[in-house]
Amino acid sequence: MKGLLLAGGHGTRLRPLTFTGNKHLLPIANKPILFYGLENLARAGIREVGIILGPIKEGIVEAVGDGARFGLKVTYIHQPEPLGIAHAILIAEDFLRGEPFVVYLGDNLLKKGIGSFVKLFEEKQSDCVIGVTPTKEPQRFGVVEMENGRVVRLVEKPKQPRSNLALVGVYVFNDSVFEACRRIRPSWRGELEITDAIQTLIDMKKRVDVNFVEGWWKDTGKPEDLLEANQLVLQELEPCTKGSVEEGVVVTGNVVIGEGTVVRKESTIRGPVVIGRDCEIGPNVYIGPYTSIGDRTRIVGAEIENSIIMNDVVIECNRRIVDSIIGNHTTIIEHEKNRPRGFKFILGERTFASI
Ligand code: G1P
Repeated sequence: MKGLLLAGGHGTRLRPLTFTGNKHLLPIANKPILFYGLENLARAGIREVGIILGPIKEGIVEAVGDGARFGLKVTYIHQPEPLGIAHAILIAEDFLRGEPFVVYLGDNLLKKGIGSFVKLFEEKQSDCVIGVTPTKEPQRFGVVEMENGRVVRLVEKPKQPRSNLALVGVYVFNDSVFEACRRIRPSWRGELEITDAIQTLIDMKKRVDVNFVEGWWKDTGKPEDLLEANQLVLQELEPCTKGSVEEGVVVTGNVVIGEGTVVRKESTIRGPVVIGRDCEIGPNVYIGPYTSIGDRTRIVGAEIENSIIMNDVVIECNRRIVDSIIGNHTTIIEHEKNRPRGFKFILGERTFASI
């Protein structure tokens, strides 16, 4: 079985974070989102993976390379425009044809991986396996309607959903999907929708089986999803200290402190928290639950909770920062004696500040 990991798309709903890079490289618990997908594919026994790259490919090839570090052989496939998941499958047809394959949307996180998808596909000798999970916001996703344990209808982001079952971004197919992808037409958003292709498989009387996904599933489409995904992944953090912690620092809960990082006096770290390499944390800092801090970041005086702070960030202020996502090379400094008093911002387009 092969894998097809989708890492194209513009990530518009994640702007400004995606103005300068591919959304699949945004970190969740200090690891690019895409890596979780690659690890899940490898864990399911897949060895050959095609990665679909869109216009914003910077960084992905550098980060993933030939895939060897994941135990995978990676082939890059270019999708010039984000014309939908079914379109991506057609573009990858030469790579995929002849073997069943898993399509994995690179921005999806699944607690339990994808082994159950592959198992079901093999057990039932399916033409397609889809994953579903109940959700409070079905209108944000593909929605699956079922009767007597079988799928009867799939609709992409319906305004009035007729079920609460969302389509998870992992699918298993055989060659019959290529014909289905060729039969469909672009949707209102100009994309060849995978949901329509699967509906076509059903109309073609192909066997579509449903995997009820166990454990949490997160689609990281919006900034608040990133924070929630970060919480979910940090909940399972294994504590590990490689850096140094000065005397008197209080560390509780599950905390990871990377190599070369120093946590200075009068600081408290309350896990789950992950801190990367070569950071300077403190003195006089509080890092609270569900916070990820990248590499080479310096934090002095501040209190930070439920936030994603990326690499090379400087935060020096006696303020409390919560529910925040702070991109690489950002500086937040408080100069108490500065006049005129006031907030000074240099914020890029579509920045959000709540003060
Ligand atoms: C895509 C699919 C949708 C699915 C979702 C899961 O949506 O079209 O059916 O529920 O992924 O993440 P998109 O992310 O393109 O809006």
